[in-house]
Amino acid sequence: MSGSFDANREDLVVGVIGAGAMGQGIVQVSLQGGMRVVLFDAKPGGAAAGADLVAQRLDRSAERGRLEPDAVAEMKTKLTVVDDLSGFAPCHAVVEAVFEDLDVKHAVYTELEKHVTPDCIIASNTSSLPISSLGRPCAHQTRFAGFHFFNPVPLMRLVEVIRGSSTEDWVVEGLVKLGERMGRTPVVVRDHPGFLVNTGGRAFTTEALHILHEGVAVQAQVDAVMRDCAHFRMGPFELMDLTGVDVNYPASLIMHEQNSYDPRIRTVPFHKSLHDAGRFGRKTGHGNYRYDEAGKMIDPPSPDHVSDAAPAERVFVAEGSEIFSDLLAGTAMTEIDDGESPIVAALYGEDCSTFAARRSLDHTRLVAIDPTGDLSKRATIMTPPGANPAARDAVAARLNANGRAVVAIKDSPGFIAQRMRAMIGNLGCEMAQIQLATPEDIDLAMRLGLNYPLGPLEIIDDFGTALAYRIMSTMQEITGDDRYRPSPWLRRRALLGLGAKVPS
Ligand SMILES: NC(=O)c1ccc[n+]([C@@H]2O[C@H](COP(=O)([O-])OP(=O)(O)OC[C@H]3O[C@@H](n4cnc5c(N)ncnc54)[C@H](O)[C@@H]3O)[C@@H](O)[C@H]2O)c1
Repeated sequence: MSGSFDANREDLVVGVIGAGAMGQGIVQVSLQGGMRVVLFDAKPGGAAAGADLVAQRLDRSAERGRLEPDAVAEMKTKLTVVDDLSGFAPCHAVVEAVFEDLDVKHAVYTELEKHVTPDCIIASNTSSLPISSLGRPCAHQTRFAGFHFFNPVPLMRLVEVIRGSSTEDWVVEGLVKLGERMGRTPVVVRDHPGFLVNTGGRAFTTEALHILHEGVAVQAQVDAVMRDCAHFRMGPFELMDLTGVDVNYPASLIMHEQNSYDPRIRTVPFHKSLHDAGRFGRKTGHGNYRYDEAGKMIDPPSPDHVSDAAPAERVFVAEGSEIFSDLLAGTAMTEIDDGESPIVAALYGEDCSTFAARRSLDHTRLVAIDPTGDLSKRATIMTPPGANPAARDAVAARLNANGRAVVAIKDSPGFIAQRMRAMIGNLGCEMAQIQLATPEDIDLAMRLGLNYPLGPLEIIDDFGTALAYRIMSTMQEITGDDRYRPSPWLRRRALLGLGAKVPS
């Protein structure tokens, strides 16, 4: 049935089903948006307890001067706790935030539809269940949609509005306006496993796990590079330990399966080992790192390469002279190999072995540097199998002397930051290709939902589409793994010299 919804009407009533962590947050932002709220929880006393916690949080905001005490007093009068769903009759929109279980949610909608008007919007805060299958038992599926908030709701501005296969436009538009009235930033997303943010976030964790799995680098090295060179607030392994391996390992399996086993979002056996060993992260005191009772990391390993070598006096620059004048300042740089000095090269997508073979260089003296990202604090170097450590140590010592901490890794295409940023960007391109959301909304959602320093398409533009395409194609060619296949979205824009956000 067609309907209309005015999110800004003075007397708007929002129903919230489920008074857990998410339900409470949704109640709070609804009250802050000036709406009346009806709250129900199946657990006896659960809704009242949830309402109390919301009231306490609002009081605390008033004490801290973030909200006016009078406004908080009025908000509290607008919250009603009910014993069953018959109390939802006056609602214009209902947000369901009960357990993540298809059957439980289906039963809730069947009961709810007995009490609300046919044009009351019904929205689910599910984080993983497909919206189209969730809405199936509804007599009026056209008013059913996803409304995916992030935890903790009052602090996380993003909300994904998910259009199911039957959802009508007025419902999507209504939820966008409702989200705005709740003080959120809504993005409209197609119904796709993991929706937008949870799909886009797969590259960060799984690529880090692949780097570890291949023996290229260890957790502390990957985390330090992603913080210092790529400006992520937390490294992927720290993040994994914070969210909990009990949550992110099963989520990885589900996402992989629901995306038709796309190798781009495949995890590695080590992830399962952590899970099966109960090494969930901070909550168990041991995950990728060890933690004390207060959740502080115990003896975090150093990511830094140290040696007592003297800084290199002279190097042969085989590729990328532009970046070395600053990084290796103080070293004489030659364009001819003297047969003794370290050979340095700035590589894109290529590993040392491929580069040395292609250019017929003495691989034992080759030291490659990742030229991408912020190199003001830290640089990543790698050497091929059979390398003489003296060349690596001399180059590392020069980088140290020039104020850069050094992460030294094993031979692999794309180093750490380059490889991970290219993967994040490529997955963002694929999300644009399959029209998960507009290119602008993909970037906005990833910045707001995951605190990324740049959205995935902005990362591609930071490289330039041609360079990003070259990195991905080269990694695919060297590894033979379709995990690294460039998205057609990226390929087309690279070939035509266009930016990553140019629409189709
Ligand atoms: N926690 C998160 O980080 C997060 C983020 C985004 C979305 N979500 C989704 O939000 C939903 C709720 O998650 P949560 O973390 O708040 O869970 P929670 O376990 O904290 O709360 C769920 C609440 O629902 C109540 N409930 C269960 N069955 C019910 C029913 N039939 N009728 C009424 N109430 C019922 C429970 O008593 C409980 O209070 C889930 O679908 C989850 O996937 C969670």
